[in-house]
Amino acid sequence: MSISSSEKPRNILVTSALPYANGPIHLGHMLEYVQSDIWVRFLKLEGHNCYYVCADDAHGTAIMLHAEALNTSPETLIADVKREHETDFKDFLIHFDQYHSTHSDENQYFATLIYERNRDNGHIFTKSVTQLYDPEKQMFLADRYVKGDCPKCGASDQYGDNCEICGATYLPNDLKNPKSSVSGATPISKASEQLFFDISRFQPMLEHWLNSDALQPEVANKLKEWLRTGLKPWDISRQAPYFGFEVPDKPGTYFYVWLDAPVGYIASFKRLCQQNPNINFDAYWSSNTDTKSYELYHFIGKDIVNFHGLFWPAMLSGAEFRLPTALFAHGFVTVNGKKMSKSRGTFIKARTYLNHLAPEYLRYYFAAKLTDGVDDIDLNLEDFAIRVNSDLVGKYINIASRCAGFISKHFKGYLAKEINQPQLLATLEQAAKPITQYYKQREFAKAIRDIMALADHVNQYIDQQAPWQLIKSEETKNSVQGICTTGLNAFKLLTLYLKPVLPKTAAAVEDFLNCDELNWENYNILLLNHKINRFKPLIQRIDPKKIEAIVDESKSTANIKSKSKPLENNASLDQPICPNIEYDTFAQVDLRVVKIIKANTIAGADKLLELTLDLGDKTTRRVFAGIKKAYQPEQLEGKLTVMVANLKPRKMKFGLSEGMVLAAGPGGEEIFLLSLDSGAKPGMRIK
Ligand code: 2FM
Ligand code: ZN
Repeated sequence: MSISSSEKPRNILVTSALPYANGPIHLGHMLEYVQSDIWVRFLKLEGHNCYYVCADDAHGTAIMLHAEALNTSPETLIADVKREHETDFKDFLIHFDQYHSTHSDENQYFATLIYERNRDNGHIFTKSVTQLYDPEKQMFLADRYVKGDCPKCGASDQYGDNCEICGATYLPNDLKNPKSSVSGATPISKASEQLFFDISRFQPMLEHWLNSDALQPEVANKLKEWLRTGLKPWDISRQAPYFGFEVPDKPGTYFYVWLDAPVGYIASFKRLCQQNPNINFDAYWSSNTDTKSYELYHFIGKDIVNFHGLFWPAMLSGAEFRLPTALFAHGFVTVNGKKMSKSRGTFIKARTYLNHLAPEYLRYYFAAKLTDGVDDIDLNLEDFAIRVNSDLVGKYINIASRCAGFISKHFKGYLAKEINQPQLLATLEQAAKPITQYYKQREFAKAIRDIMALADHVNQYIDQQAPWQLIKSEETKNSVQGICTTGLNAFKLLTLYLKPVLPKTAAAVEDFLNCDELNWENYNILLLNHKINRFKPLIQRIDPKKIEAIVDESKSTANIKSKSKPLENNASLDQPICPNIEYDTFAQVDLRVVKIIKANTIAGADKLLELTLDLGDKTTRRVFAGIKKAYQPEQLEGKLTVMVANLKPRKMKFGLSEGMVLAAGPGGEEIFLLSLDSGAKPGMRIK
């Protein structure tokens, strides 16, 4: 099965999407790194020249503001986060050949080169754009940093591009009473000159690319739809203040984070080449390379296929770089069938998981579910424990633990001179071909299915032979050595098949079997008349209490913030950006305990409930609250909550809203009305 017999070693460069240097790695991210790492490990075991590079995506407004909120510099923030990311990856057994940062000299060099070549080839133009501007903070505001009243229904606290209450979409300039979320100031409109990448010039090239084999069919179809609706020029610049690279010929203007992020793939590889001069950088990236001999693959999430499937190939081609061989998009991780949720404790950080469980359990579970498609992968926590315990402990490790003791105890640790069931090993060896094919095609679930079927087969063989019976009689005792030698050689082969997924266990098995590092070159070498080491349990069962502990820890460390919306680069800040207010301003807010005496649905409203509130002073108020997805009206009647009683009444589509009730949570089904049972009485003021 060694590649030398069938194919020449391939030269392969693999990347995973660059995580934002703005927050921790979570299990949603980890799926992709596990998927790519398994693929790369497999290719390396097959003997190919395969390099796996990644980097932190370190630029953008969100990172700049986050650093400011932490009272630190962006450089310090990204250095700290990079260290954390690297530790998380290492502890999840993700092995990068290079892990770099987009805030690096190499990236500045290539981002600038790619920009300049595109500019010189006529693909960039400048245009004046009017945007909202925060006069206090002296910065332009992306839509998500502006909030105000919806121009259609009047709902307050809506973002600059769409209303979460009535669903209207609009321009930030149309928002009523707009406020900057950065400083609280009222934004003004201001024009600035921006750089645009004219992607429409690449229409024919992109059509050709989308019809090649470079994309999964479902991804290609989606992108073709976008192509049909026409490609609009892409704004690739941002004005100062911005954390990024300044455009060389436009002082005060910076490259937009999404311009230099994918360039990070090139920069990280360049760094690897600088450290290993025998790797030929140009062979992998130059437009006149032989792309069949030097392959380039990007693993990405399905949410960023437009950047990688349209902008990236166009930018590369406009700058005379080669195109990727293929993009491999995957789906999202759901937990227990639902979107990961902070309040349910299913928004699990990599570190929280590692605080309780070993990485290989999750690597195995993801592998057992991964295909070459873009379907979401569900991490069902109950199934996770059952599957790992039954497959890894009950089937795979069980083979070694059933055989090893006899060899150590009765045969001085020596395997027999020959196996007693060559047919069984032949069956296992024949499976190498389909299993390697599945790995190659990223059909990991199929590989795992076959490997576990083989493990079942080996266990049945041991059941039938019943060495624990044979060992009891002097006449049959010796056959036990041959049986266990067969079992342990089968175990060795299964370990190789699982090695891309379970590299740490594989290393421990190599130690236990006292053999060379397993690979596809030496896969059919039998261990005979060979001394093995004493067996120690290699994988423990998952205790469901550990999973509970992960969920509990995730709940307790989640900082539930009101109405979060992805920031500029989809990363959520740990701290919401709110301006500091003076105590006097706070003291002006009339917070009151109120009783919900009536809750009604409203015809035509998806998100609002109409609440009638008793203020305890014989007055009632009507308030519209966007909590319909989270509560049935009858759940609310009779409950005490807190309202802002002196908010100016606001005219909304469905009537006048006379205040606001307090709730917390990310929104939708997860918005929790503050509910009191502390002995407070309607009318009490919150002090
Ligand atoms: O979506 C994200 O998390 C981005 N940081 C991915 C960037 S991938 C590449 F383009 F750099
Ligand atoms: Zn609205």
